Amino acid sequence: MHGRRVGGTRLILRPSPPTTVVTVTSGAVVVYDAEKDIPPEERNRVVGAGTRWHDGAMNKVSTFYSGPGKLVEAISSALDAAGLDRAALRPADLAPVDEFHIRGRAASLEIVEALGVTPDSHVLDLGSGLGGPARSLAELTGCTVTGVDLTPEFCEVATALSEWTGLSDRTRFHVGDATATGLPDEAVDAALTVHVAMNISDKPALYAEAFRVLRPGGRFVVYDVLQGEGGDVHYPVPWANDPSTSFLATTEEMRELLPAAGFEVISEVDSSDQSLDWFRQVRARIEREGPPPVTFAAFLGASFGQMAANQVTNLAERRIRTVMFTCSRPF
Ligand SMILES: C[S@@+](CC[C@H](N)C(=O)[O-])C[C@H]1O[C@@H](n2cnc3c(N)ncnc32)[C@H](O)[C@@H]1O
Repeated sequence: MHGRRVGGTRLILRPSPPTTVVTVTSGAVVVYDAEKDIPPEERNRVVGAGTRWHDGAMNKVSTFYSGPGKLVEAISSALDAAGLDRAALRPADLAPVDEFHIRGRAASLEIVEALGVTPDSHVLDLGSGLGGPARSLAELTGCTVTGVDLTPEFCEVATALSEWTGLSDRTRFHVGDATATGLPDEAVDAALTVHVAMNISDKPALYAEAFRVLRPGGRFVVYDVLQGEGGDVHYPVPWANDPSTSFLATTEEMRELLPAAGFEVISEVDSSDQSLDWFRQVRARIEREGPPPVTFAAFLGASFGQMAANQVTNLAERRIRTVMFTCSRPF
């Protein structure tokens, strides 16, 4: 290996133009002198120039989501056990595990509509998780989506699920930090981030990065969990075991953060009441039909039941809100 170890990240240097590219493997940090020096098995983890992979909070977030490991095998076995033919899988079949946000696929369909992309568009999903929103977007519009996510395990699963659903040619997933993707300026036609900023304390950096990589005139959709007026969140929740990795903005703060990054906010939709209904409908369906073959419990583990129950209380007591902002980068 021709890399140089630096700390917590694997860095790759390109000589001309001088850039720094990051890939992450087992928490190691290596600087490469040239891209050709990157071992082939690492290449799909390369994110781009200038990516930072810097602090302990990020490692804690990634560890939280990683679960017990071997997630591709676990999902594959669960689908086989349920008699689902992987060759005939559609993105909607995977929604109970890969649409990892409140209101699941219904919210993704709203995002698809709000982004208004065409088959020629290249879209960036910041914090792409297991890839549900990216696949919904690629399937329904024919566009190409690049997902960047902090959790290597999730990027592996996202890549496998895209293969199973025949969407590998239009979705790609890289390990990286949404606040510093390393993508070139104005590289994408549209961008989204879905239930990710709750884990990111440096929100100005997140929205500045979205603005930087988006072409003028492009749309940016943010669908996130926000702090409500009802008081502190009950933990654990599906994004954090405790407040040390949970950083919720309020709606009022979002109204300042997005314009401060340069965005024009086109619409703001609070879906908290629908979110509460959604949890109740999911629970009723499980009581009626039993659980789907594979759920978020595959990686969130035994705490998932408590997390879901806390989400219902948090919504009912207005401790959290779900809000979607559709923005554009002015010309
Ligand atoms: C609740 S999941 C949502 C995943 C996906 N957006 C979805 O809606 O299905 C939160 C995701 O944010 C990712 N994440 C958290 N902090 C991040 C960061 N700084 N950069 C990139 N991804 C991040 C986590 O790894 C996780 O996959």
